[in-house]
Amino acid sequence: MQANVVVVGSLNMDLVTRAERLPRGGETLVGESFATVPGGKGANQAVAAARLGAQVAMVGCVGDDAYGQQLRQALTDEQIDNQAVSIAAGVPTGVALIVVDAASQNAIVIIAGGNGQLLPESVQCFDALLQAAQVIICQLEVPMATVAYTLERGRALGKTVILNPAPASGPLPAQCFANIDYLIPNESEAEALTGLPVNDLASAKAAATHLLGLGVGKVIVTLGAQGAVFANGQGFRHFPAPLVKAVDTTAAGDTFVGGFAAALARGEEEGAAIAFGQRAAALSVTRAGAQPSIPHLAEVQP
Ligand code: RIB
Repeated sequence: MQANVVVVGSLNMDLVTRAERLPRGGETLVGESFATVPGGKGANQAVAAARLGAQVAMVGCVGDDAYGQQLRQALTDEQIDNQAVSIAAGVPTGVALIVVDAASQNAIVIIAGGNGQLLPESVQCFDALLQAAQVIICQLEVPMATVAYTLERGRALGKTVILNPAPASGPLPAQCFANIDYLIPNESEAEALTGLPVNDLASAKAAATHLLGLGVGKVIVTLGAQGAVFANGQGFRHFPAPLVKAVDTTAAGDTFVGGFAAALARGEEEGAAIAFGQRAAALSVTRAGAQPSIPHLAEVQP
């Protein structure tokens, strides 16, 4: 079946330790557990969209190693089309070193590996996937040129284009903004993109207004337990977050993005799609790991 959601982005093997707290500089901590878990923001969003009802294809790149094989297989297991996930010789598969503390907060360091080999031409080769899609999703764990190309091509094809600007270390190239229908940053990403502090509803609205002024269609700032702020130039809407006891917040943002995209792709109105994504993300934080934490459609329907 043709994919209605296409994700262009990263695949990482997550190397996850749990410890009482995050280590300080120069400190060695004794951890509590270790696991290797399929992750990467792109692959997580693809898995979320698939589990939450979409037909999904992924465009990405892994290294020619065991992690790469496992990550491609993880997509296959979810019925995600991985024909456009290439295998690059001579580079390792992307990895993420993750520490999760007792308060369920995490710290993550990523090494791009194969993700750094995903070039605009890699996307061009699979233009038929973009042409068939309704929704196209990008993040920032692959080269910026590839993201910029995909956003531009998605806009030219008249698709719904979503950018989750994660991780964000500074402003985006100015020409990208006009090609984005939905920009979905969290607090720190909204701050990095705008230079404005973002930590509550008022500051999220200010950052969203700034981003709309740069040419983005609509903005959804996710604020964790404080919910999400939607802005579209006509006004704002606050979506409170479902109350849950967090175990691990890794991939909560990815679950929101994938769930939101899946709901849009099946024709849900955007407010309903945001609430659906929030319910899915709330469930994901009650479970450990990236892809293992992502819920299925039947768990999220009201
Ligand atoms: O968003 C969570 C993801 O960020 C993890 O799975 C890790 O791979 C990093 O990319």
